[in-house]
Amino acid sequence: MAVGIFDSGLGGLTVLDAVAARHPELPLVYLGDNKHTPYGVRDAEDIFNLTCAGVSRLWDEGCDLVILACNTASAAALKRMQETWLPADKRVLGVFVPMIEALTERRWGDNSPPREVAVKHVALFATPATVASRAFQRELAFRAIGVDVEAQPCGGVVDAIEQGDEILAEALVTSHVEALLRRMPHPEAAILGCTHYPLVQAAFQKALGPDVKVYSQPQLVAESLGDYLQRRPEFLGQGGQSRFLTTGNPERVSGKATQFLRYPIRFESS
Ligand code: DGL
Repeated sequence: MAVGIFDSGLGGLTVLDAVAARHPELPLVYLGDNKHTPYGVRDAEDIFNLTCAGVSRLWDEGCDLVILACNTASAAALKRMQETWLPADKRVLGVFVPMIEALTERRWGDNSPPREVAVKHVALFATPATVASRAFQRELAFRAIGVDVEAQPCGGVVDAIEQGDEILAEALVTSHVEALLRRMPHPEAAILGCTHYPLVQAAFQKALGPDVKVYSQPQLVAESLGDYLQRRPEFLGQGGQSRFLTTGNPERVSGKATQFLRYPIRFESS
């Protein structure tokens, strides 16, 4: 009954962590494509091919349901995967919609027309590929009107995290936030639209100031997975064992994962 969680690298561990806390009985198989990280500077074709390869690997582990714990893959590849590639007995869920539903005060599956919501000025921080896709604005426009979104591509942050360089990651976050605040001085809410960013969430909050509500995805995704599995339990696959897999160097990745999550994690080679 395992569920798969996929990311280009370490970021999806933030989602895994929240899912494991909320569903402690559920076996989870994590795959980080650390060999090819970062995805955020790749083109859509490349992201599609790498994401399909990763998801297929998780099917081999008995995970019929895979969470793309990667905004870049969710933005650049998920729609095409669902339309052209996904077999009927498998499911791939992205991480965008739960966050947008929270921002727009909607419950799952509320497909009513877009309406005015409390938040009017939103700062979006994401990878260059996610920002270029405009997927966030598209999903938001289905649900809300009158929301001004200012997006900041946060070049370098994923790389710094993958290298384990927290000081560089935090410095980059500060300068990306400052760049955005020059264009939108008073956002009410900020979206961390990359699953790596909760690992440096404190730096975002500090640079944004205490009045900006920072939405981060992991808890929202964990809650919506619970909803989904109640409605569609048939997508709990055959896999029975939790594992951490990487396309990169398992020792190195285990070290960085342990550094960021502050508990021991042992990766195996995928
Ligand atoms: N964690 C991925 C995301 O949510 C990072 C993408 C990357 O590898 O650049 O977008």
